[in-house]
Amino acid sequence: YTITVNPDATGAAIPKSMYGVFFEDINYAADGGLYAELVRNRSFEFNGTDASGYNGLTAWAATGSAVVTNDDQRLNERNRNYLRVTGTAGLTNAGYNTGLAVEKSELYDFSVWARADATTSLEVSLHTAGGTALAAPLTLSVAGDTWKKYTGTLKATATSDVARLSVKASGSARLDEISLFPRDTYRGRANGLRKDLAEKIAALEPGFVRFPGGCLVNTGSMYQYTAADNYPRARSYQWKDTVGPVETRATNKNFWGYNQSYGLGYYEYFQFSEDIGAMPLPVLPALVTGCGQNRATVDEALLQQYIQDTLDLIEFANGATTTTWGKLRADMGHPKPFHLTTLGIGNEENLPEEYWANFLRFESAIKAKHPDITVVSNSGPDDQGSTFENLWAKNRAHGSDMVDEHYYNSPSWFLQNNKRYDAYDRSGPQVFLGEYASLDAKLFNSLAEAAYMTGLERNADVVKMASYAPLLANIDNVQWKPDMIWFDNDESWGSTSYQVQKLFMNNVGDRVVPTTTTGNVLQPKPITGGVGLSTWRTAATYDDVKVTSPDGTVLFSDDFDDGNADGWTSVTNRGAWAVTDGAYTQTTTDTEDTMVKGATISATDYDYTLKATKTA
Ligand code: AHR
Repeated sequence: YTITVNPDATGAAIPKSMYGVFFEDINYAADGGLYAELVRNRSFEFNGTDASGYNGLTAWAATGSAVVTNDDQRLNERNRNYLRVTGTAGLTNAGYNTGLAVEKSELYDFSVWARADATTSLEVSLHTAGGTALAAPLTLSVAGDTWKKYTGTLKATATSDVARLSVKASGSARLDEISLFPRDTYRGRANGLRKDLAEKIAALEPGFVRFPGGCLVNTGSMYQYTAADNYPRARSYQWKDTVGPVETRATNKNFWGYNQSYGLGYYEYFQFSEDIGAMPLPVLPALVTGCGQNRATVDEALLQQYIQDTLDLIEFANGATTTTWGKLRADMGHPKPFHLTTLGIGNEENLPEEYWANFLRFESAIKAKHPDITVVSNSGPDDQGSTFENLWAKNRAHGSDMVDEHYYNSPSWFLQNNKRYDAYDRSGPQVFLGEYASLDAKLFNSLAEAAYMTGLERNADVVKMASYAPLLANIDNVQWKPDMIWFDNDESWGSTSYQVQKLFMNNVGDRVVPTTTTGNVLQPKPITGGVGLSTWRTAATYDDVKVTSPDGTVLFSDDFDDGNADGWTSVTNRGAWAVTDGAYTQTTTDTEDTMVKGATISATDYDYTLKATKTA
């Protein structure tokens, strides 16, 4: 067919910030990932209420008398546990994946907070899991019964990805926050980022960095840690918990079922965004728990505090160094502002009424003090369904600056919906496509994403920003896929979707040049039928549902013999099929059970037919 380019017509201007990245601590993306710290559970804060199998010595092997202790001799109120060593005690940390990764001739900065009853000697060594030395050991002498930070440097004599860090103590002392960082972090920053991962992200040339989540943001308890309840974990992501000296940042369980140290916190996110020339785009909790948890915390004083925290964040990022939070930024090493212009309130909000009431409060407080800040609102958990429609309607009527949409769909969906934004109201809120990916991780998925991105770009007058998700995945700890960049403890590689994103981000145009197409454009064929559409899955009316290709291959089937509401026990090629019940469409997965009642089944793909056998 023919594509006609009309260079004289004026298409939408494409902002440089059109394509960005979304960083969330999922798949161990932070600790053991982008955050360069090599020691796992450095402050002995893991405990069994955070995750099954955790305890104060998770990732550590101890010999002699080494006891995790929580008493009033602690390092500080946020760092509750420390290790009490007496006599001769040995400690070995196993790091992440196969161990700590070290490279020959590189320097590694060791530090420990310690206090001693009597002068205590610490011998620090790097060696392989099998005991072969990887650096000349370092000896530190701990003296005095007040907490002090002791530091030293190890130089690796060989390269290894199975390294262990050992500390042998002789004496009687308290130890905490045992840390080992490669000197060679991204841009050489202290408390910095793992170089290969940061470089891969930087190579994308992203226009913005959305952080810190995702579902990570607004789940867990909305209340402060309190000493009275011994600082329960699973607190919603509060930026103030993540700034200041690292040894004062509390370890917190995250939404994805493991602990986050907050060593990679808001200061580091802002710094990284600045380092790679990207606009920082933080997302703050709205006091409503999204991501399927459907819980609103109704507490006026707490709401006011969350709103104040958001104003304080703007002060932390942009305020003069004479302000409280601007001073903290300067004390942490960045007197100049971070130029925060845009922030999001909430993520995938399931409770439209409760979320909306809170959003309006956040937005009006922000606009009253900072009219130039763009406040990104939310569209709900997915681009389908009543929450999405409801929230979009509210955002339109209200005139929100921008609305955050998320969707993870089949490649066919991306191909069929290239025109999605052609019909969006140009006078309504702008769109931030904060999360999207074509499900599965094949080249075809990445091509479908690329095709879809042409539709985003064509509509750059309404779609202002877009970020693929998730960004990072540690191969040994995967909660979600597909992902853009994969890694273990010493290697990383981009997926084909990474290459697509890079292609688009490295080549952002100035404006759209309108085109028209004529001829036989190949279109996916919608196919429906086969089963009694209105009675799908009610009272076991149908059995043995199959979707077959013309050559007879069964592409999708379900015999419902397990009797579970989720069905879908023997699904193949499921990514291409959808079940619809009016407002709700969902790609079939083994865990979906919301689509069963009164649903119709329809399939849209190339030349497939749908068959079902009625047995009752
Ligand atoms: O990107 C992974 C998750 O997908 C995010 O945390 C959430 O916002 C979405 O459901």
